[in-house]
Amino acid sequence: MPDDSKVTISAVAARQTLDSRGYPTVAVRLTLDDGATVDASAPAGASTGEFEAVELRDGDDAYSGRGVRQAVASVTGELAEALTSHPWATLHELDAAMIDVDGTDNLARLGANAVVAVSIAATRAFAHVADTSVHAWLARLTGSSERLPVPHFNVLNGGAHAANPLDFQEFMVAPVGAASEEEAVQTGAEVYHALAARVKQRFGTAGLGDEGGFAPDVANPHEALDLLVAAIEDTGLTAAVDEVAIAIDPAANGFYQGDGRYRVDGRVLDRGQLVDYYERLLDTYPLRSIEDGFAEDDHEGWRLMFDATGRRTQLVGDDLYVTDARRIEEGALSHWSNAVLIKPNQIGTVTGTLDAITVAREHDMRCMVSHRSGETTDDFIADLVVGTGVGQIKSGAPARGERVAKYNRLMEIEAESGGIPYGLAEGSAR
Ligand code: PGA
Ligand code: ZN
Repeated sequence: MPDDSKVTISAVAARQTLDSRGYPTVAVRLTLDDGATVDASAPAGASTGEFEAVELRDGDDAYSGRGVRQAVASVTGELAEALTSHPWATLHELDAAMIDVDGTDNLARLGANAVVAVSIAATRAFAHVADTSVHAWLARLTGSSERLPVPHFNVLNGGAHAANPLDFQEFMVAPVGAASEEEAVQTGAEVYHALAARVKQRFGTAGLGDEGGFAPDVANPHEALDLLVAAIEDTGLTAAVDEVAIAIDPAANGFYQGDGRYRVDGRVLDRGQLVDYYERLLDTYPLRSIEDGFAEDDHEGWRLMFDATGRRTQLVGDDLYVTDARRIEEGALSHWSNAVLIKPNQIGTVTGTLDAITVAREHDMRCMVSHRSGETTDDFIADLVVGTGVGQIKSGAPARGERVAKYNRLMEIEAESGGIPYGLAEGSAR
């Protein structure tokens, strides 16, 4: 007798689709036994952490080696065979089966880009079978209280995402004090437009970075932060940690020189000097969060920074943890940071992503769900952040289809569901 709480996959299709940088990524469609279809596609990073699950690229003539035909073949070949072999009682079981078929500890054989797309589509399949939304299904699975997150709009781009001389990768606006997701999105968009006017006036024109933020020729982080504060104030709102706050992702791997030394603003700083540099920024600007302020393997730098600033600001590990529960646990015990960035494709499965959030919570670390710099219009992370209730998301600028897909989905969830609170989770004021 068919069990209607189980997911039965009758067909698996996959193909190459273009991401927001014009490179291919994996798109998957699962057909279920009731005829319904669920889709998903994988995002792709540019400033990736060394320990991320492996994104399989063909390395041949197509797309400068960045084709994903092998990963597509993983889905339609070995994964399809496993996925259609029997009904699935849990997402955990399905994800574990894919890891098993892959046989490596970092999904290097089949490709994390293949596996994560299937895993996201499968999550949608479980929600479909349970006749509920993806966010509600995830909340039930994880025992979380749903929450609409504070969006972190990346409006000024540098580092690996832009061609300008700015060392730091991301400068974000976070409408912490907004009353709703809709109001937060409006604030983000208004600041973005005010910034556009200032950038045009000061620099003539400016290109855009990969995540839709402006990439003018600002010389250094101070100049970028001054511009941002001015743009926030242009909208009539207050730049403050509990109103319209700022967050940065220096992505320090990009300017790490090795041996505890970092090149910032044309100067080489040692660990202590870089901590001082960040402390001056914290004293001067309404900064609520610093992500990857130190390089992924500079644990001594992370510890110094945590000791100096961990009580007054959010310190987020991205490349440091690569959404890996074991690394997060190590970071918690070693006092590397008080927060974790959550990117499903870094670990390769939705189950692994939820495990990362669980471990972070067990250690009182905050989480921020994140897109990648290469994206499609897949909006899964919007449901993920609401369903796990972690209270923070970053999805780039409030412009460009692949970025606004997530923000628009959040507003849709707010409008449809009614009663889900907006804002940072309890105890994460800064
Ligand atoms: P990536 O960058 O998606 O290019 O890795 C995003 C980030 O560093 O947060
Ligand atoms: Zn980052």
